[in-house]
Amino acid sequence: MTKRVVTLAHYYTQPEIQQMADKVGDSLELSLYAKEAQADIIVFAGVRFMAETAKILNPEATVILPDAGSTCSLVTQTDVAELTQWRKRYPDHVHVSYINSSAEHKAVSDWIVTSRNVDDIIAHLYAEGKQVIFSPDRNMGGYLNDLYGYDMPLWSAVCEVHDKFNEAALAEAFEAVPGEKYLIAHPESPLPVLKKADYVGSTSGMLNWVKAYQGDAKAVIFVATEDGILYNMGLARPDLDLRQAPIYAGCQCNSCPYMKMNTIEAVKRAQQGEGLVIDYLSPEQMDAARVPIERMLEFSKRYYA
Ligand code: 13P
Ligand code: SF4
Repeated sequence: MTKRVVTLAHYYTQPEIQQMADKVGDSLELSLYAKEAQADIIVFAGVRFMAETAKILNPEATVILPDAGSTCSLVTQTDVAELTQWRKRYPDHVHVSYINSSAEHKAVSDWIVTSRNVDDIIAHLYAEGKQVIFSPDRNMGGYLNDLYGYDMPLWSAVCEVHDKFNEAALAEAFEAVPGEKYLIAHPESPLPVLKKADYVGSTSGMLNWVKAYQGDAKAVIFVATEDGILYNMGLARPDLDLRQAPIYAGCQCNSCPYMKMNTIEAVKRAQQGEGLVIDYLSPEQMDAARVPIERMLEFSKRYYA
């Protein structure tokens, strides 16, 4: 019998990869698609933590990451043994972890969040009188501490792509635009950049902001995130002047090397069953990691259904 293959792609992959996919989305949407996919094989054109999450949520499916090298700096900068020691310093706190984390990391967390629901979940925990520690993204955590006056202790890892967006280069780019200009940014960007943003949110959130934009048609909209989503934004609103935010003077280029490992050849091979099969997580590890992920999905259902 022919195997049912479902291909999922993140917005940061190349346009030709997105065109090969059954579904394209942000981390939250892709997790939900993976969970509900009626598939024998899920090809995940994204990065490893996304494929691991898909396997945890849909353990019956064979989940394949096209290129084994597709990691994420938030994962590689986090040693889980050290993280576990750090967590022990805050026995009365709730440990909230960003989905950009390994399965092992998720298994020692109380809640998983994505850039889509992090504000709401942490606000919900504080409203219940809880104290929170946040890992692994110190930019995202620092932004929430600054915005809402929280005092969350933070783990210190960054996204090597978003951390490059630069306040001084942005000020220069803004100055060079005589008319109206906007900045929309992903919360993995540094705090001085986020403080200048008109909108901060997930990849889907930024895309929706662009779709709904009704301001001056001649305005320049700077986008502080990985370059892949400029394709989706351009498709949705070809009438707008959308530019990637600069990382240093004169340079408007910033790509995630791990997302770009999803080449056409690698994705085609994965659709034939080749690539990194996510078969190395033990049932106990998957069960432990599923608890905080499901907590997030349940919460998100109420808010985003
Ligand atoms: P989103 O969940 O916003 O798509 O973010 C994923 C990611 O890796 C951002 O760098
Ligand atoms: Fe990780 Fe950054 Fe790449 Fe997203 S853009 S997958 S956070 S390295």
